[in-house]
Amino acid sequence: MGLFSLKLESLQQLFVRELRSLYDAENQITEALPKMIENATVPELKEALEEHLDVTNQQITRLDRIFTLLQEKASGETCRGIKGIISEGSDLLSTGGEPNVIDAGIIAAAQKVEHYEIAAYGTVRTYAELLGNSEISQLLEQTLDEEKEADTTLNSIAGNVNIEAKAA
Ligand SMILES: [Fe+2]
Repeated sequence: MGLFSLKLESLQQLFVRELRSLYDAENQITEALPKMIENATVPELKEALEEHLDVTNQQITRLDRIFTLLQEKASGETCRGIKGIISEGSDLLSTGGEPNVIDAGIIAAAQKVEHYEIAAYGTVRTYAELLGNSEISQLLEQTLDEEKEADTTLNSIAGNVNIEAKAA
């Protein structure tokens, strides 16, 4: 939020602001994922994170399309929530330790990211609906479904990884 940011006077303005924050969040995630992939040991986890990196790039393209439809610029917000979650995750990676325990920690960090995104996309999807933009609402719903799917995948990988971490 810059010095010249306008006060929020309408749901539309809040909607655009939340979308810009998500745009920044997705970009931060594409920068953070390679390091998590590099540090993950279990192949299923590596693959799931690699796949989610591809999905995240598609989500950025989808947001670009939304900004074009809205005739608004995509930049202008920093997502401090995701910044904090990512910074906790990278602290964990730089601490190092048992590979299985690190895997469990990577899953924990990734699921925090997913839950943040599920909350944020659920909100903007609902705003789009309320504002009568069904095309944008459908695009956001698609991303929301992808985030939920990523969370479910991480849950199932965590099943084994946490047991391995306990045995470490
Ligand atoms: Fe995402």
